[in-house]
Amino acid sequence: MPCAAIPLFSMPTWGPDVGVLLELKGLVAGYGAGDILLGIDLAVDEESLTCIVGPNGAGKSTVLRVISGLLRPTRGSVRFRGESIAALSPRSILNRGIVHVPQERSLFPTMTVWENVRLGAYTVRDRGLVERRLAAVAETFPVVKERRHELAASLSGGQQKIVEFARAMMLDPLLLILDEPSMGLDPKTRTTVFNTIRTMNDAGHTVLLVEQNARSGLGIASHGVVMESGRIRLEGTGPDVLGNPEIGRLYLGAA
Ligand SMILES: Nc1ncnc2c1ncn2[C@@H]1O[C@H](COP(=O)(O)OP(=O)(O)OP(=O)(O)O)[C@@H](O)[C@H]1O
Ligand SMILES: [Mg+2]
Repeated sequence: MPCAAIPLFSMPTWGPDVGVLLELKGLVAGYGAGDILLGIDLAVDEESLTCIVGPNGAGKSTVLRVISGLLRPTRGSVRFRGESIAALSPRSILNRGIVHVPQERSLFPTMTVWENVRLGAYTVRDRGLVERRLAAVAETFPVVKERRHELAASLSGGQQKIVEFARAMMLDPLLLILDEPSMGLDPKTRTTVFNTIRTMNDAGHTVLLVEQNARSGLGIASHGVVMESGRIRLEGTGPDVLGNPEIGRLYLGAA
Protein backbone atom coordinates (compact mmCIF):
# COMPACT_ATOMS: atom_id res chain seq x y z
CA MET A 1 0.00 0.00 0.00
CA PRO A 2 2.69 2.53 -0.95
CA CYS A 3 1.87 6.19 -1.29
CA ALA A 4 2.94 7.92 -4.48
CA ALA A 5 5.03 11.08 -4.25
CA ILE A 6 3.73 14.63 -4.26
CA PRO A 7 0.06 14.75 -5.24
CA LEU A 8 -1.60 17.21 -7.55
CA PHE A 9 -3.66 19.26 -5.17
CA SER A 10 -3.37 23.01 -5.09
CA MET A 11 -1.34 24.74 -2.45
CA PRO A 12 -3.51 26.79 -0.10
CA THR A 13 -2.83 30.47 -0.76
CA TRP A 14 -4.85 33.57 0.10
CA GLY A 15 -2.39 36.40 -0.11
CA PRO A 16 0.88 37.41 1.45
CA ASP A 17 -0.33 37.79 5.04
CA VAL A 18 -0.05 34.16 6.06
CA GLY A 19 1.13 32.56 9.27
CA VAL A 20 -1.34 31.30 11.81
CA LEU A 21 -4.12 29.32 10.12
CA LEU A 22 -6.10 28.35 13.20
CA GLU A 23 -6.08 29.95 16.63
CA LEU A 24 -7.81 28.76 19.79
CA LYS A 25 -7.91 31.14 22.74
CA GLY A 26 -9.20 30.43 26.23
CA LEU A 27 -11.26 27.54 24.95
CA VAL A 28 -13.62 26.00 27.51
CA ALA A 29 -16.01 23.23 26.42
CA GLY A 30 -17.81 20.19 27.75
CA TYR A 31 -20.78 17.91 27.23
CA GLY A 32 -23.26 19.34 29.70
CA ALA A 33 -22.12 17.68 32.89
CA GLY A 34 -19.17 20.01 33.45
CA ASP A 35 -16.27 21.39 31.47
CA ILE A 36 -13.78 19.07 29.82
CA LEU A 37 -11.54 21.64 28.16
CA LEU A 38 -10.35 24.07 30.82
CA GLY A 39 -8.80 26.89 28.80
CA ILE A 40 -6.95 25.80 25.67
CA ASP A 41 -4.70 28.23 23.80
CA LEU A 42 -3.30 26.81 20.60
CA ALA A 43 -1.99 28.21 17.33
CA VAL A 44 -1.71 26.03 14.23
CA ASP A 45 0.56 27.54 11.61
CA GLU A 46 -0.18 27.36 7.93
CA GLU A 47 1.38 24.24 6.37
CA SER A 48 2.45 22.90 9.76
CA LEU A 49 1.91 19.40 11.05
CA THR A 50 0.71 19.78 14.62
CA CYS A 51 0.40 16.64 16.73
CA ILE A 52 -1.53 16.52 20.01
CA VAL A 53 -0.74 13.64 22.34
CA GLY A 54 -1.92 12.82 25.85
CA PRO A 55 -3.57 10.13 27.92
CA ASN A 56 -7.07 8.75 27.35
CA GLY A 57 -9.73 11.21 28.36
CA ALA A 58 -7.39 14.24 28.20
CA GLY A 59 -9.79 16.04 25.86
CA LYS A 60 -7.93 15.64 22.57
CA SER A 61 -10.93 14.57 20.50
CA THR A 62 -13.00 17.24 22.24
CA VAL A 63 -10.64 19.94 20.92
CA LEU A 64 -11.06 18.54 17.41
CA ARG A 65 -14.86 18.40 17.75
CA VAL A 66 -14.97 22.08 18.75
CA ILE A 67 -12.83 23.07 15.76
CA SER A 68 -15.03 21.23 13.27
CA GLY A 69 -18.24 22.57 14.80
CA LEU A 70 -19.55 19.33 16.31
CA LEU A 71 -19.40 20.87 19.79
CA ARG A 72 -19.99 24.51 20.74
CA PRO A 73 -17.48 25.96 23.21
CA THR A 74 -18.87 27.53 26.37
CA ARG A 75 -16.11 30.14 26.38
CA GLY A 76 -13.18 31.23 24.28
CA SER A 77 -12.57 31.75 20.59
CA VAL A 78 -11.83 29.67 17.52
CA ARG A 79 -10.43 31.69 14.64
CA PHE A 80 -9.69 30.26 11.21
CA ARG A 81 -7.86 32.50 8.75
CA GLY A 82 -8.56 35.33 11.18
CA GLU A 83 -12.33 34.84 11.33
CA SER A 84 -14.38 33.45 14.18
CA ILE A 85 -15.88 30.06 13.36
CA ALA A 86 -17.04 28.99 16.83
CA ALA A 87 -20.71 29.64 16.09
CA LEU A 88 -20.77 28.13 12.60
CA SER A 89 -22.41 24.85 11.64
CA PRO A 90 -20.24 21.82 10.79
CA ARG A 91 -21.28 22.25 7.16
CA SER A 92 -20.14 25.89 7.06
CA ILE A 93 -16.85 24.94 8.67
CA LEU A 94 -16.40 22.17 6.11
CA ASN A 95 -17.06 24.67 3.35
CA ARG A 96 -14.28 26.87 4.72
CA GLY A 97 -11.81 24.07 4.19
CA ILE A 98 -11.63 22.18 7.49
CA VAL A 99 -12.07 18.44 7.03
CA HIS A 100 -12.22 16.10 10.03
CA VAL A 101 -11.39 12.39 9.78
CA PRO A 102 -12.86 11.02 13.02
CA GLN A 103 -11.38 8.54 15.47
CA GLU A 104 -13.87 5.81 14.64
CA ARG A 105 -14.19 4.14 11.23
CA SER A 106 -16.32 6.29 8.98
CA LEU A 107 -16.57 4.70 5.53
CA PHE A 108 -19.91 3.40 4.31
CA PRO A 109 -19.14 -0.34 4.47
CA THR A 110 -21.58 -1.50 1.81
CA MET A 111 -20.51 1.10 -0.75
CA THR A 112 -17.45 0.67 -2.97
CA VAL A 113 -14.16 2.42 -2.35
CA TRP A 114 -14.77 4.65 -5.34
CA GLU A 115 -18.29 5.62 -4.17
CA ASN A 116 -16.96 6.44 -0.73
CA VAL A 117 -14.20 8.65 -2.11
CA ARG A 118 -16.58 10.42 -4.49
CA LEU A 119 -18.89 11.18 -1.57
CA GLY A 120 -16.09 13.27 -0.05
CA ALA A 121 -16.87 15.91 -2.68
CA TYR A 122 -20.63 15.91 -2.14
CA THR A 123 -20.57 19.66 -1.47
CA VAL A 124 -18.70 20.41 -4.71
CA ARG A 125 -21.04 21.41 -7.54
CA ASP A 126 -18.43 21.58 -10.32
CA ARG A 127 -18.54 18.04 -11.78
CA GLY A 128 -15.40 18.58 -13.81
CA LEU A 129 -13.54 19.55 -10.66
CA VAL A 130 -14.84 16.43 -8.90
CA GLU A 131 -13.57 14.23 -11.74
CA ARG A 132 -10.16 15.94 -11.72
CA ARG A 133 -9.86 15.47 -7.97
CA LEU A 134 -10.92 11.84 -8.25
CA ALA A 135 -8.17 11.26 -10.80
CA ALA A 136 -5.61 13.01 -8.57
CA VAL A 137 -6.69 11.06 -5.50
CA ALA A 138 -6.45 7.76 -7.41
CA GLU A 139 -2.85 8.61 -8.33
CA THR A 140 -1.90 9.71 -4.83
CA PHE A 141 -3.53 6.80 -2.99
CA PRO A 142 -2.91 3.60 -4.98
CA VAL A 143 -5.36 1.59 -2.85
CA VAL A 144 -8.16 3.78 -4.21
CA LYS A 145 -7.29 2.86 -7.78
CA GLU A 146 -6.50 -0.78 -7.13
CA ARG A 147 -9.54 -1.56 -4.98
CA ARG A 148 -11.98 0.93 -6.44
CA HIS A 149 -14.75 -1.58 -7.21
CA GLU A 150 -14.55 -3.42 -3.90
CA LEU A 151 -16.78 -2.77 -0.93
CA ALA A 152 -15.16 -0.62 1.73
CA ALA A 153 -15.88 -3.32 4.32
CA SER A 154 -13.62 -5.77 2.48
CA LEU A 155 -10.52 -3.62 3.05
CA SER A 156 -8.17 -3.95 6.02
CA GLY A 157 -8.33 -1.34 8.78
CA GLY A 158 -5.23 0.43 7.45
CA GLN A 159 -6.53 0.47 3.88
CA GLN A 160 -9.84 1.88 5.11
CA LYS A 161 -7.99 4.65 6.91
CA ILE A 162 -6.11 5.55 3.72
CA VAL A 163 -9.43 5.63 1.84
CA GLU A 164 -10.79 7.95 4.54
CA PHE A 165 -7.80 10.24 3.88
CA ALA A 166 -8.51 10.07 0.14
CA ARG A 167 -12.14 10.97 0.76
CA ALA A 168 -11.05 13.96 2.87
CA MET A 169 -8.69 15.09 0.11
CA MET A 170 -11.62 15.36 -2.31
CA LEU A 171 -12.32 18.72 -0.68
CA ASP A 172 -8.69 19.86 -1.09
CA PRO A 173 -8.73 20.93 2.58
CA LEU A 174 -6.87 23.89 4.02
CA LEU A 175 -6.85 22.10 7.38
CA LEU A 176 -6.97 18.34 7.68
CA ILE A 177 -7.93 17.08 11.13
CA LEU A 178 -7.00 13.48 11.87
CA ASP A 179 -8.08 11.80 15.10
CA GLU A 180 -5.94 8.78 16.01
CA PRO A 181 -5.49 7.46 12.47
CA SER A 182 -3.10 4.69 13.53
CA MET A 183 -5.40 3.20 16.16
CA GLY A 184 -5.49 -0.60 15.99
CA LEU A 185 -3.02 -0.90 13.10
CA ASP A 186 -0.02 -3.21 12.92
CA PRO A 187 3.42 -1.52 12.81
CA LYS A 188 3.92 -1.88 9.04
CA THR A 189 0.51 -0.44 8.20
CA ARG A 190 1.05 2.28 10.76
CA THR A 191 4.21 3.31 8.91
CA THR A 192 2.23 3.56 5.67
CA VAL A 193 -0.39 5.70 7.37
CA PHE A 194 2.23 8.06 8.83
CA ASN A 195 4.04 8.29 5.48
CA THR A 196 0.72 9.18 3.85
CA ILE A 197 0.10 11.91 6.43
CA ARG A 198 3.54 13.29 5.74
CA THR A 199 2.92 13.26 1.99
CA MET A 200 -0.35 15.18 2.39
CA ASN A 201 1.44 17.73 4.58
CA ASP A 202 4.36 18.00 2.12
CA ALA A 203 1.80 18.85 -0.55
CA GLY A 204 0.85 21.96 1.44
CA HIS A 205 -2.08 20.75 3.51
CA THR A 206 -1.95 21.88 7.11
CA VAL A 207 -2.50 18.89 9.38
CA LEU A 208 -3.78 18.76 12.95
CA LEU A 209 -3.21 15.24 14.19
CA VAL A 210 -4.20 13.55 17.45
CA GLU A 211 -2.22 10.41 18.20
CA GLN A 212 -1.98 7.85 20.97
CA ASN A 213 1.13 6.60 19.28
CA ALA A 214 3.14 9.56 20.54
CA ARG A 215 6.53 8.52 19.19
CA SER A 216 5.28 8.18 15.62
CA GLY A 217 3.02 11.23 15.78
CA LEU A 218 5.56 13.58 17.33
CA GLY A 219 8.22 12.07 15.08
CA ILE A 220 6.62 13.58 11.97
CA ALA A 221 5.30 16.75 13.65
CA SER A 222 6.67 20.26 13.26
CA HIS A 223 4.69 21.25 16.37
CA GLY A 224 4.04 18.93 19.31
CA VAL A 225 1.44 19.48 22.01
CA VAL A 226 0.85 17.45 25.16
CA MET A 227 -2.61 17.60 26.75
CA GLU A 228 -3.63 16.34 30.15
CA SER A 229 -6.96 16.77 31.96
CA GLY A 230 -8.31 19.40 29.59
CA ARG A 231 -5.21 21.57 29.55
CA ILE A 232 -2.06 21.90 27.48
CA ARG A 233 0.83 20.73 29.61
CA LEU A 234 3.68 21.27 27.18
CA GLU A 235 4.37 22.29 23.62
CA GLY A 236 7.33 22.76 21.32
CA THR A 237 8.76 21.28 18.18
CA GLY A 238 7.95 17.59 17.69
CA PRO A 239 11.52 16.50 18.55
CA ASP A 240 11.66 18.81 21.60
CA VAL A 241 8.48 17.34 23.03
CA LEU A 242 9.63 13.82 22.25
CA GLY A 243 12.91 14.50 24.02
CA ASN A 244 11.39 16.03 27.14
CA PRO A 245 12.17 13.67 30.03
CA GLU A 246 8.90 14.36 31.84
CA ILE A 247 6.95 13.48 28.74
CA GLY A 248 9.03 10.38 28.21
CA ARG A 249 8.13 9.21 31.66
CA LEU A 250 4.46 10.20 31.64
CA TYR A 251 3.32 9.50 28.12
CA LEU A 252 5.82 7.50 26.15
CA GLY A 253 6.49 4.69 28.57
CA ALA A 254 10.19 5.48 28.96
CA ALA A 255 12.06 4.46 32.09
N1 LIG B 1 -20.29 12.64 24.00
C1 LIG B 1 -19.80 12.75 25.24
N2 LIG B 1 -20.63 12.93 26.30
C2 LIG B 1 -20.15 13.05 27.55
N3 LIG B 1 -18.85 13.00 27.88
C3 LIG B 1 -17.98 12.81 26.88
C4 LIG B 1 -18.40 12.67 25.51
N4 LIG B 1 -17.30 12.50 24.73
C5 LIG B 1 -16.25 12.53 25.57
N5 LIG B 1 -16.65 12.72 26.84
C6 LIG B 1 -15.79 12.80 28.02
O1 LIG B 1 -14.87 13.89 27.81
C7 LIG B 1 -13.59 13.55 28.29
C8 LIG B 1 -12.59 13.78 27.18
O2 LIG B 1 -12.91 12.93 26.10
P1 LIG B 1 -12.11 12.95 24.73
O3 LIG B 1 -12.81 11.98 23.85
O4 LIG B 1 -11.95 14.34 24.26
O5 LIG B 1 -10.69 12.40 25.21
P2 LIG B 1 -9.45 11.95 24.36
O6 LIG B 1 -8.26 12.68 24.86
O7 LIG B 1 -9.75 12.07 22.90
O8 LIG B 1 -9.31 10.42 24.77
P3 LIG B 1 -8.94 9.11 23.90
O9 LIG B 1 -7.44 9.09 23.85
O10 LIG B 1 -9.48 7.99 24.73
O11 LIG B 1 -9.58 9.21 22.57
C9 LIG B 1 -13.66 12.12 28.77
O12 LIG B 1 -13.80 12.15 30.18
C10 LIG B 1 -14.90 11.57 28.12
O13 LIG B 1 -15.52 10.60 28.93
MG1 LIG C 1 -10.00 10.72 21.37
